Amino acid sequence: MKILVIGGGGREHALIWKLKQSARVEKIWCAPGNGGIAGAAECFPAVDAGDVPALVALAERLAPDLTVVGPEAPLVAGLCDEFARRKWPVVGPNKNAAQLEGSKVFTKLFLDRHKIPTANLYGCFDSAAAAREALARVAWPVVIKADGLCAGKGVLVAQNREEAEDFITRLMEKNELGDGGRRIILEQGLAGDELSFIILSDGTRYAPLVPTRDHKRVFDDNRGPNTGGMGAYSSDELLPPALRQTILSTIVEPTLRGFAADGIHYQGFLYFGLMLTASGPQVLEFNCRLGDPETQAIVARMDFDLAEVLTDVAAGKLDAGKLRWKPGTSVCVVLTAGGYPGKYETGKRIEGLTAITDNTGVVAFHAGTKKIGADIVTSGGRVLGVTSAAADMPAALRAAYQGVGRIHFEGMHYRKDIGASSGRQGATGD
Ligand code: AMP
Ligand code: GLY
Repeated sequence: MKILVIGGGGREHALIWKLKQSARVEKIWCAPGNGGIAGAAECFPAVDAGDVPALVALAERLAPDLTVVGPEAPLVAGLCDEFARRKWPVVGPNKNAAQLEGSKVFTKLFLDRHKIPTANLYGCFDSAAAAREALARVAWPVVIKADGLCAGKGVLVAQNREEAEDFITRLMEKNELGDGGRRIILEQGLAGDELSFIILSDGTRYAPLVPTRDHKRVFDDNRGPNTGGMGAYSSDELLPPALRQTILSTIVEPTLRGFAADGIHYQGFLYFGLMLTASGPQVLEFNCRLGDPETQAIVARMDFDLAEVLTDVAAGKLDAGKLRWKPGTSVCVVLTAGGYPGKYETGKRIEGLTAITDNTGVVAFHAGTKKIGADIVTSGGRVLGVTSAAADMPAALRAAYQGVGRIHFEGMHYRKDIGASSGRQGATGD
C-alpha cells in the first residue's frame, strides 16, 4: 500500500509511526510533513495542508491507495468531497459533516435539536452590541465562543462582565481572530473534568478509541493561557464501564442518529470534547478529526494494524472488533518553544534526539521541527511530543520524563505534571 498523510504536526507523525508498522505499507508520503516525519515518509513541505487544489493535484500525481487527513482546515474546506467525487479512498468527513468543528452555531443547533446534553445556549449573535446586551441575562461564568475556526483561540470562559466585554470587542469589533470571530455564541459555563472521547466511523458503524485527557494550560497546576495541548494521557481508568455506557447511550448514539435524521454522512474520526459534570457527561465541542496531542497517546496503545483498519473505513467496511488496545497507560509530554503560546523564537538546534531513538518504549514525535543539513531545529510553538506506554501510570511517566531529560533546545519548556491528576477518576487535566 502507498499512503498519503495530510498534515505536519505531532498527530501526523504519530499516525505515520503506527502506519509504518503495518506489513502491508510500502510507502508513505506526507504533505507538508516536518523534520521528524521526513525520516519516516517522503515529505512535500511546499504543499500547505489547507490548500485543497494543491492537495488534489498532489494526490492525482501520486495516486495513493489511501489518504488520511489529520488537521481540520482541509476537511472544513471540502478536501474529502473532492476525493469522493474522484472515487479516491480517503479517511475524513466531508465538508457538510466537518461543520461540526467549523461552526459552533451549527453544532449547538444540532445538539439542541437532537437533545444531546450540552451547556445551555444563551444566544447566537452577529453584533457586538446585541451580545453585550445579552450579558445582562446570563449566569457567571459565561462561555463565549467564536463561531468559526480560530486555531484554538476562539473560546473564553469569562468570569465577569469586564472579561466578557473585552473578548467580545476583540472578536467582533477588532476582528483579532479574523472571520471566525464575526459571529459568536454565549453559553452556560459548565464545571467538571474534561475527557476526549474519539470514535472512528465508516458512515454506518463506529468504534470508540481509548479515552484520553489533554492538558490545555501552558503551566503546571493548570495555570497560564490555553494552548493547543501540553500533554495527554490515556488509561482505561479514565472511563469506568458505567460512564462509558452513559457516554455511548446519551451522547454518541444520539449523535449518530442525529446524523441519519439530518442527512449527514460522517466518515472518519469524530472527537467528542466532553465535560464530566455532576449531572452527567455533556458535549463541549466536536472536532472532525483526531486530537493533538491525544493521538500520540492513542497510537502508543494501538495493538492493531492501523493501515488495515483505515482502509476498511475508506471502503465503508469498518470491523470494530479489529481495534485491539494494549492495557495500561500511555503518556505524551509536549516540549514547546519558550514563550509559546505567545511569541516564541524558532531555529533552535535540538540535541539528544538520537538518545531517544535508542531508548525502546519512548518515542519523540515531531511537531514544530525542521531538518537543516544534519540538524533538526525548532520551527513551531509545539516542538516535540515525548510519548511512552507502560503497564501503569508511574512507569509510563518515568519513561516519558526520562526521555524528556535527554532532549535539549534553547528555551525548551514542558509541564512536569502531565498525568499527575490521573489517580482520581474524573480528575481534570485542563
Ligand atoms: P471548545 O473549543 O468548545 O472545546 O472550547 C475549548 C475549551 O473551552 C474546552 O476544552 C473547555 O476547557 C472550555 N469550554 C468550552 N465550553 C465550555 C463550557 N460550556 N463550560 C466550561 N468550559 C468550556
Ligand atoms: N488537543 C485538543 C485538540 O486537538 O483539539
